[in-house]
Amino acid sequence: MPDDIHVAVIGAGRQGRDLINYGLDLPGLRFKAVCDIWPCAQKYAAGLLKKRGHPATVYEDYREMLAKEKDLQAAIIATPDGFHCEQTLACLKAGLHVYCEKEMALTVADCRKTVEAARRAGKLLQVGRQHRSNPRYHLALEYIYAKKALGRITNVFGQWHGPKRVKFTWPQKLALDDATLKRYGYESMEQFRNWRWFEKFSAGELVNLGAHQIDVFNWFLRTPPKAVMASGGLDYYDFYELYDNATCLLEWDYAWEGKTRTVRGLYDVNTVTEDGGFYEVFYGDEGALTISEDAGKGGLWREQRAKVAQWEEDLPVLWVRPNSPPAKGHGGPQYLHDFGVLIGGPSEDRVFASLPNPGVERHQHWYHLKNFFDAIRGVWGLNCPAEVGCQGAVAALRAVDAMKAGRRLELKPEDFKV
Ligand SMILES: NC(=O)c1ccc[n+]([C@@H]2O[C@H](COP(=O)([O-])OP(=O)(O)OC[C@H]3O[C@@H](n4cnc5c(N)ncnc54)[C@H](O)[C@@H]3O)[C@@H](O)[C@H]2O)c1
Repeated sequence: MPDDIHVAVIGAGRQGRDLINYGLDLPGLRFKAVCDIWPCAQKYAAGLLKKRGHPATVYEDYREMLAKEKDLQAAIIATPDGFHCEQTLACLKAGLHVYCEKEMALTVADCRKTVEAARRAGKLLQVGRQHRSNPRYHLALEYIYAKKALGRITNVFGQWHGPKRVKFTWPQKLALDDATLKRYGYESMEQFRNWRWFEKFSAGELVNLGAHQIDVFNWFLRTPPKAVMASGGLDYYDFYELYDNATCLLEWDYAWEGKTRTVRGLYDVNTVTEDGGFYEVFYGDEGALTISEDAGKGGLWREQRAKVAQWEEDLPVLWVRPNSPPAKGHGGPQYLHDFGVLIGGPSEDRVFASLPNPGVERHQHWYHLKNFFDAIRGVWGLNCPAEVGCQGAVAALRAVDAMKAGRRLELKPEDFKV
């Protein structure tokens, strides 16, 4: 179609392929090119696109792709983090709008450089923090601010507990030759496959995972943190070089009803146990809200002494007494699937109910990509533009600095401004 947006994908590994799949479910896109240094990833992505009616030209080097493909309007970048800055800068310079996976860069200086480049180019840069487009998170914000369901927020908590890690392997026949590996800065096939554990390509899990969740805190508290301290290390695995667990404490200056107060938060990332999974909690003096990328997790609790609120009256009640069985078809309070947020309270009169479904249930990557392409068409602004992406990146990267320094770091508002 003449109005289709022409798109290239750089990095067609696990995440790149997911983004291609979600992009294929969006109208008005034409995938024209795929770039990946691994032939098996190129072949898989090109095959997938061809099957869905998008014959795409395949490239190994993004520079060659940008030189030859003259009618691209947008690029989706899903290579290892260490390439994001250079590839984003090149795509912006070539006049493309960019959807770049998190993290946008591995240093604060490079994050800022990327923001400046987007501004200079006058192009859109969406950072891949898909929470920012997730309708459930938007609904949760409505309960916090429009309905004041938590009262004043005093503390936050978040964790990402994931399954035990394994070293990624590869079939020998698919190994890249040494010259190709070297050309892109990899010492070995093992490093190429396990890039997440190497400082040259990643800032570790406080950034891989933490950047999403610390960004949720900043977003919901409407301000970046004012201080961070952290502790972590490579304590469990006999692995490469980056830490395998970390815990940090953050502080924010939180504005509530004309006054500014400190909110403290604990954030924990663990690569050894899946216990508890991943979620964020906002604690207020009238209630608490749990929210997660996992659509089966979430809760809004009223403190026993808080008055029954209008928002409870407005919600369909599923379960009104403790210890009574959950309503038919629902798995119980912890894992209610397909609902926005679960409402509960610790007292005898507790109410369990679901929030109205905020829309068609799609994967949040789909919403975030949709927001990017809608923004290119001028329908909306971006949900995670360069400046906002940079704020989350700086907070997470400074948490890594605090961990390395073993001390508390004070952060100033200007640290987050570009
Ligand atoms: N937003 C999210 O929830 C989310 C989830 C997973 C991954 N990610 C991000 O997506 C990116 C990719 O992660 P992944 O899990 O798909 O990794 P992956 O290792 O599965 O895929 C990376 C791909 O990039 C290719 N590649 C490596 N170096 C390249 C280069 N210089 N030029 C072109 N291609 C290159 C590899 O061959 C591979 O196919 C990372 O930045 C990661 O942080 C984001």
